[in-house]
Formats: sequence, C-alpha cells, structure tokens
Amino acid sequence: MSSKITLSVIKADVGGYVGHSAMHEALLAEARTCLDAAKSRLLIDFHVTGCGDDLELIMTHDKGVDNSEIHGLAWKVFENCTAKARELKLYGAGQDLLADAFSGNVRGMGPGVAEMEFEERTAEPIVIFMADKTSAGAWNLPLYKMFADPFNTAGLIIAPTMHDGFRFEVHDVKGHKRIFFDCPEESYDLLVFIGASGRYVIKAVYAKDGEIAAVSSTERLALIAGKYVGKDDPVCVVRSQGKFPAVGEVLEPFTMPHIVEGWMRGSHYGPLLPVPFHHSGPTRFDGPPRVIAAGFQLANGSLVGPRDMFDDPAFDRVRERTNDLAEQLRRHGPFEPHRLPMEEMEYTTLPQVMDKLKERWEKLPG
Ligand code: 13P
Ligand code: 13P
Ligand code: MG
Ligand code: MG
Repeated sequence: MSSKITLSVIKADVGGYVGHSAMHEALLAEARTCLDAAKSRLLIDFHVTGCGDDLELIMTHDKGVDNSEIHGLAWKVFENCTAKARELKLYGAGQDLLADAFSGNVRGMGPGVAEMEFEERTAEPIVIFMADKTSAGAWNLPLYKMFADPFNTAGLIIAPTMHDGFRFEVHDVKGHKRIFFDCPEESYDLLVFIGASGRYVIKAVYAKDGEIAAVSSTERLALIAGKYVGKDDPVCVVRSQGKFPAVGEVLEPFTMPHIVEGWMRGSHYGPLLPVPFHHSGPTRFDGPPRVIAAGFQLANGSLVGPRDMFDDPAFDRVRERTNDLAEQLRRHGPFEPHRLPMEEMEYTTLPQVMDKLKERWEKLPG
C-alpha cells in the first residue's frame, strides 16, 4: 500500500433548487449517506458540500488518481442524488450526467474532476475552490497570480523555498493536447495561451522538483455534449505553505474580480464574486458567477475542516466592487461585451432567426 494519499474532488450538477440557483439539502444528505456507507471500504475521509446548484464530493483515499472504484463511487452518488432530485422534481435533474452507464472513469461523462496524489507533509493546508455559473478556465488568472506573479505572491521573491518558481501544465481543451511551461522563465509564452482561457486551461501546477501544487477540473461540458447543457462550474485544489504559496497568497488573486464567462444561460461575461458558503447560491440574473473557498488541514488523510475562507470582512470591498462591475455589465443587456460573442454563445436563436429572415436580406446598392 502506498504511503501517499489521494485527494479527489469530483462534482456534478444533478438538479437545482430553485431553478439553477442552489442545492437542496436532501441531495447533500443522500450524498453523505452514500459516501458514509462506502467509507470503510474505499475512503479515508470525505466532505460533501454544494456550490450553487453543484454537488461537490471531496474525498481522501489511498488508491491514486483516476481510480475506477473511486470514480464509480462518485458516479453512483450522482445517480442516487439524481433519483432524489427527480422525486422532488428539482430543476435539471441529472443535468451533468451525460452518459447512461459508468464505464471505468467519470472523465468525459459530465462530472468535473480535480485529483492529486502526494506525500502528506507534517502540516498540509489545502484550499479547495468551487465555482458556480462559470467555465473551466476561470482559474487561469488566479493560478497565474498565485504561482507566477510576485505582486500577488511575495514568497516568489522572499521565500527561498519558492524562489525557483513553478511549472504549469496547460491543456488545449479543443485540440486535446497539453504542454508544460516553466515560470518565471517562460511566463510570457505561458500568458500567450492562458489568456485565451476558453481553449487553454491550466490543469495543474508543480514545484520545480515535480511535486504537485495545484490541480483543476478542465472538463468542458459543451465540448463533451456537443451542445449547451449547463456550465462547467469548475473546482480547483491548491496546496499551501512551505514550498507553496501561503494561504493568504492563495486567496489574494480573488481580490481582483476578474471577468469570466458563464452567468445567465452560460452566455454572458461577469465578474467572479468570492463569497462565504452561505452565499454560494446565485440569484441575480442567475449569478453573478461566484466562488467559495474551503480550507482544510489534512491529518493522515482526515479532512480537518472546512474553514470558510471568504467569510472575512476583508473581502467586503471586493464584493462591493464586484457588484458594481456586475451592474455595469448588466446594463448592456443583450449587447457585447456582456453577452458572449456569437461564436462563443452556449446557445443561440441565430440559426432560426437567420432562416426566418433569409428572404428579407437585400444586397447593398452600389
Ligand atoms: P433549460 O433549457 O433546461 O430550460 O435551461 C435553460 C437555462 O439553463 C437557463 O437558466
Ligand atoms: P448551471 O450551469 O449552474 O446549471 O447554470 C445553467 C444556467 O443556464 C444558468 O442560467
Ligand atoms: Mg444547473
Ligand atoms: Mg451550476
């Protein structure tokens, strides 16, 4: 048996209460019951929570990443919770379960997955970010700031343990390829790609000795389904302290409400709002997109926590600024840059309207 532990965060939207705004307590209870029943057989520990209408399964075990028993367990939980959602006629029951039956691994079946395996340190602080109403790629900017921007992370300059910088694994989610960049050496090359966060998504970050520092879910639902079914609502796990950024450096990027895609019908740009757990359910125009941060200390795989990391008045001004930005974008109504550009729209009436009006378009004179 490996002395390493694996942290798996697997999430899916299996039904919303009310509409796409939040998670019903019965689903959380069902998920906890299922994981509790499997714990002695498969898990060291688990924590179940929701972010907006997304069900988040946080699990520790010793089976490594991409393990079929762990993925099968998560799938089973999502199926049982979907049944519960159907009973209550919740909105979009089973929304993210894109396959009829489990086939070894939940990747490509709809759920989002962020997993890492590592040797637990003497103290192992972890922050798990969970978002609703946004896309995979929403972590690009904050991960860059955490691990490559000295104006965010003082440790890159003043901590001998971090001064060598970090390595970024970037996935081209449309081309199905990946590439690694060393920072700070290749930070300009890295930024060329990750600035286009709809296509190039930071999957993981490593210390220069190869140790895993962060991992995110990169599943793009629309690419898997070939149509809009809901937003990806990604998760991201970050190890902290020691040779990784301090907890405050991990949280600091969220003081800049950066603009992400998602919000209403997955088809609008809006600022990412950092909120405490009890505010994770978006309502205004189905948003604005939001993020919660759950802090844990690991103790031999046990999840000691969570601490609600954005439940701090120091983030109040950020939230105010985010709401101002949200208001400014909202006033644009159906105009870009609030609405996504045509080619990025998750769904659109354009083909039908084009078809209806095709006879009425006239050639410009001259
Ligand atoms: P439906 O197409 O399932 O109604 O979903 C629309 C939507 O997601 C708007 O919130
Ligand atoms: P979710 O991706 O959170 O289900 O939201 C879908 C949506 O269309 C909201 O307007
Ligand atoms: Mg939903
Ligand atoms: Mg959601």
